[in-house]
Amino acid sequence: MCGIVGYIGKRQASPILLDGLRRLEYRGYDSAGLALWSDGGINVFRKAGRIENLRKAVNEISPFGDLGISHTRWATHGAPTDENAHPHLDQSGKLALVHNGVIENYQILKDQLKQDGHEFHSETDTEVLAHLAGTFYDASDEADLKTRLVKSVQEALSRVKGTFGVAVMHADVPGVIVGARLGSPLVVGLGKDEQFLASDVAAIVAHTRDVIYLNDYDLVTLTRQGYEVASLDSQRTARVQVSKVDFTEDDAEKGAFEHFMLKEIYEQPQSIRNALRGRLNRDECTAVLGGLNMSPMELRQIDRIIFSGCGTAYHAAMVGEYLIESLARIPTEIEFASEFRYRNVPTDKNTLQFVVSQSGETIDTLAALREAKRKGLRCLGIVNNVASTIARESDGGVYIHAGPEIGVAATKTFTSQVAIMTLLSMLFGRIHHLSSTDGLEMIDELEAIPEKIESILKQAPLIKSIAEKYAHAEGMLFMGRQINYPVAMEGALKMKEISYIYASGHPSAELKHGIIALVKPELPSVFIAPDDAVYDKNVSNIEEVRARKGPVIAVTTEGTHDIERITDDVIYVPRCKSILSPLLTVIPLQLLSYYVALARGCDVDKPRNLAKSVTVE
Ligand code: G6P
Repeated sequence: MCGIVGYIGKRQASPILLDGLRRLEYRGYDSAGLALWSDGGINVFRKAGRIENLRKAVNEISPFGDLGISHTRWATHGAPTDENAHPHLDQSGKLALVHNGVIENYQILKDQLKQDGHEFHSETDTEVLAHLAGTFYDASDEADLKTRLVKSVQEALSRVKGTFGVAVMHADVPGVIVGARLGSPLVVGLGKDEQFLASDVAAIVAHTRDVIYLNDYDLVTLTRQGYEVASLDSQRTARVQVSKVDFTEDDAEKGAFEHFMLKEIYEQPQSIRNALRGRLNRDECTAVLGGLNMSPMELRQIDRIIFSGCGTAYHAAMVGEYLIESLARIPTEIEFASEFRYRNVPTDKNTLQFVVSQSGETIDTLAALREAKRKGLRCLGIVNNVASTIARESDGGVYIHAGPEIGVAATKTFTSQVAIMTLLSMLFGRIHHLSSTDGLEMIDELEAIPEKIESILKQAPLIKSIAEKYAHAEGMLFMGRQINYPVAMEGALKMKEISYIYASGHPSAELKHGIIALVKPELPSVFIAPDDAVYDKNVSNIEEVRARKGPVIAVTTEGTHDIERITDDVIYVPRCKSILSPLLTVIPLQLLSYYVALARGCDVDKPRNLAKSVTVE
């Protein structure tokens, strides 16, 4: 969602700020803006639409400034207009502020400020925060201007309810940016005589890999020479740890690929290898997941597992449920994070909760984690973004090590999450019912997966031609059974997200209970029907669709040629152990949605209305 980039140093700030915003584009936004400090004044630029509009506006003037803050906004309070774009100014026009999050009590504060004569120029909650901070600044008699700005930001934030990541600058306080966070990520980048502030490390990794991930309630003051971190909460002391970013600028670039999504689909053989690296123990025929921070005895006591997540992460958790129940026989439940947080799920001391999140910042998943911890559950994270809020607040967990995922539609992180679910099921399986022979077979089969994905990727031209054939379908149905039911859900989600074709995923047998009413020549069905124990059942369901003149695309196992008789198009995947098939069957679906979106002229990496990391409820 919204993004923040701040810079203070010796260089021209605007190219750094604009480039940083470009690198945050993937998070989703609908307007952008920046404020630059130059001799005694602040220049503010705000534009609805793409960052390109902002770049043009800035370049028309080419203002000098070696300090600035910038923002991409995903509209919550007020439409995506120039006026509502950040930065917002206070009443004096001297204090500029950008904000991620939501100020819940903004209306009460706004009414009070209006009574005191404040004039507002936008519909945003953020402008209220700028005015509030400006009020405290103007009323202060603190002689040291830096301290005065810091205290005014602190005062203002103590009056607001809600969530925030903010960056603030003031025309009368040269050489200072103040940042603070509560519920919205913020990271400080450390350079030589220059410092950066961003909501996502991807915005600044081109300039520095030494960073400080701020914690909730941290308030940071940046100057050219350095930083100071204090706490907004007098009850706690800020803890500062400098970390090294584990990816480079190039990892977050498209390279030779036309879109990030395509690049990330093609990265899957490698991202799965990364997820497995060092985590398979052939001697013990099991998985090794040290980050769980649990002893073998503690692991053995677990008699119930709950997974929570949103979107693609939820679908990966659905696969996890099948895996753990099959291999470890531990009752496993999946809950949408947004539902879990408001439900009163019965749990006991032997229940283990996992939250699954690529970004590690999704607000509902974070809230599910906090709710679980409040109930005294041990809560572990399955996360991609190192040092994200979920990674830091959980009691331990597993990094999926997929590298930066920029395409809004998650692809490689799905397969990496499923790979981790597989490791978990092996780990729990081996301390319960799974034999060493079966454990070893799982290891062999898992290690063969990346190469099998490579062979599926070679079929991209075929999948492209199928996609072009159905690109203008009215809608699409995705059907799968057992462990491939979540794959059907994920296939439908990909299709909706980037091609805007209405699609839904169902267990194949549910067809007869309503969905069949939709079947007609204009509505293709995609059946995920590998050669497994339920293959024949899927074939019967395909027949039912065919009988009603519904076109059928099947994803099945190599060698299963009889299916060609009853389908319009077939995509084959290599044979593998049935329980691992989601790692293969999902690949054609990712490519199918990609090529359908391309054929429809959709903006694959930045689909409308979506955000990569959803940090509001
Ligand atoms: C958003 C994204 C989805 C993603 C979901 C969960 O809706 O558009 O692609 O699956 O959030 O994100 P997370 O970062 O928690 O995995």
